[in-house]
Amino acid sequence: MNILYYPEPVLHKKALPIKDINSRAEELLEKGEIMLRLMYEAAGIGLAANQVGLLERLVVKDETGEHKGERVFINPEIISADGEILEEEGCLSLPGIYGKVPRAKKVVVVAYNLKGERLEMEAEDLLARVWQHEIDHLNGTLIIDRMSPASRLAASRRLKELEELFREGSSKVRTL
Ligand code: NI
Repeated sequence: MNILYYPEPVLHKKALPIKDINSRAEELLEKGEIMLRLMYEAAGIGLAANQVGLLERLVVKDETGEHKGERVFINPEIISADGEILEEEGCLSLPGIYGKVPRAKKVVVVAYNLKGERLEMEAEDLLARVWQHEIDHLNGTLIIDRMSPASRLAASRRLKELEELFREGSSKVRTL
């Protein structure tokens, strides 16, 4: 598994809900561990399954970078959102692209852990942003789909570069 980059088609597809968590726990743990390793290697704070080519509703995150606590989440869903805040955001699948993305300031998220336990979590500011970003990935939405027109315009040259590298099948994208 590797982190995939825009415009890889899987990034614009919707991931499917994971069923029978308990009987798949071992496999999901393994996938989660690989995703966490890729995320840490890329100095990211969150990664969604689409970004490694899996169309399953699996997300890893560690916004503190402390390598501890619950970090693998299954079927995450925002059940309520409040407020709005505009901040700069980036994405591991869009290297070199940053732009202002509007997000809810507070969210309540429901997800399952690897034991199949239902978790209900409140999140604010950066953590709320990470949840919204990763759940967007599971729905096939990227930050460029939500950026302000000005940010999108500023990113347009870099997007063209990424499109060209993808067409060439180049691995240079990693060093952008
Ligand atoms: Ni991302």
